[in-house]
Amino acid sequence: MGERWWCLVTLCGVLSATALANGSKCDLYSGSWVYDDSYPLYDSSKCPHIRKEYDCIKYGRPDLTYLKFRWHPTHCLLPRFDAEEFLKKMSGKKIMFVGDSVSVNQWQSMVCLLHAALPSESNITEETINSTTTVTYEDYGVSISVFLSHYLVDIEETEIGRVLMLDSITDGDVWKDNDVLIFNTWLWWYRRGEKQPWDYIEIGANIVKDMDRMVTFREALRTWADWVDSEVDTEKTTVFFQGVSPSHYNGADWNEPGVTNCGKETVPINGSIYKGGVPAAEKVVEQVLNSVKKQVSLLNITRLSQLRKDGHPSSYNAFKGMDCTHWCVAGVPDTWNQLLYAALV
Ligand SMILES: *[C@@H]1O[C@H](CO)[C@@H](O)[C@H](O)[C@H]1NC(C)=O
Ligand SMILES: *[C@@H]1O[C@H](CO)[C@@H](O)[C@H](O)[C@H]1NC(C)=O
Ligand SMILES: *[C@@H]1O[C@H](CO)[C@@H](O)[C@H](O)[C@H]1NC(C)=O
Ligand SMILES: *[C@@H]1O[C@H](CO)[C@@H](O)[C@H](O)[C@H]1NC(C)=O
Ligand SMILES: *[C@@H]1O[C@H](CO)[C@@H](O)[C@H](O)[C@H]1NC(C)=O
Repeated sequence: MGERWWCLVTLCGVLSATALANGSKCDLYSGSWVYDDSYPLYDSSKCPHIRKEYDCIKYGRPDLTYLKFRWHPTHCLLPRFDAEEFLKKMSGKKIMFVGDSVSVNQWQSMVCLLHAALPSESNITEETINSTTTVTYEDYGVSISVFLSHYLVDIEETEIGRVLMLDSITDGDVWKDNDVLIFNTWLWWYRRGEKQPWDYIEIGANIVKDMDRMVTFREALRTWADWVDSEVDTEKTTVFFQGVSPSHYNGADWNEPGVTNCGKETVPINGSIYKGGVPAAEKVVEQVLNSVKKQVSLLNITRLSQLRKDGHPSSYNAFKGMDCTHWCVAGVPDTWNQLLYAALV
């Protein structure tokens, strides 16, 4: 039974990957969440890498049902994450997540998934240099990094103050040296006041105090797209862009008008329909990705994550603040990594 199950899973993994490549009916991103008692994929209390913003159980989350859901694509099976298979396939390779704290969220899930599956005597090292934290699986020569970049484009200190440079990506020289890149940016584009880490915006030859933020976001993504087309060797480097990670502060989006956060949510939305629809920023991401000439894949996590109003830390984090933006680890980012796994292995 065990063997047949695994065979089925592997076969379906192969079939779904083929079907995806053909752009035909098996879409790993369309589906629903089903209860699965074999989940979660690891015990978060044993993972040494989780930062205090995402360590929900450690900070007292009492309901644990949110750990028990598996993403079920309607027309195919999502292969189960096999750490050893992954490390063997990626042997000698460097993988880097680039983006804001949501990228850190996915990176932490990835290193926990791997940590949980490896023998305790495995040589795993962790090192932080400048903006990059890297965990290396020395026995496989695989490294998995996260490069913290809120906007992907540069912020430069100048005489007039900090300038968000919509046309410039100097950190790209560090990124393009990797074999797999997974990008993400969105969270910071609407931040203002004390949370805004720049004073001016430079676009073309102009410096302005502020601009329509969605336009600003689109311009930065275009700069990123041009950078991929001109600088990245996609024969060597596989490039993903992560779709917008949704937050849950507006109950009307999930048929609970008047609710203003995720604090009481303990189960996913049943089914595939999210009343809130596709976020405007996600449409921008998809438009820009369509304009990239080189091979870039969308890690289309938006809809499946929208259904997980129960997946956020809410008040169970080190700061006790209400966080319906990030995700508990273990939790929803494990599925993002299963989808990444399906695309890579
Ligand atoms: C995908 O395309 C290949 C080659 O064109 C074809 O042999 C295969 O049957 C297709 N698979 C699906 C699921 O459509
Ligand atoms: C992303 O997934 C959603 C939900 O399945 C789908 O409606 C949308 O078309 C997908 N986007 C892309 C660009 O494939
Ligand atoms: C782990 O790998 C690092 C880098 O190769 C090496 O310096 C270190 O000695 C190894 N540690 C053990 C316990 O093998
Ligand atoms: C870290 O940043 C410093 C200062 O910008 C730079 O000189 C150094 O080369 C960087 N280190 C690495 C490994 O990139
Ligand atoms: C979702 O709804 C279906 C029927 O509409 C039901 O059978 C199933 O148990 C529900 N799932 C969850 C997780 O509530």
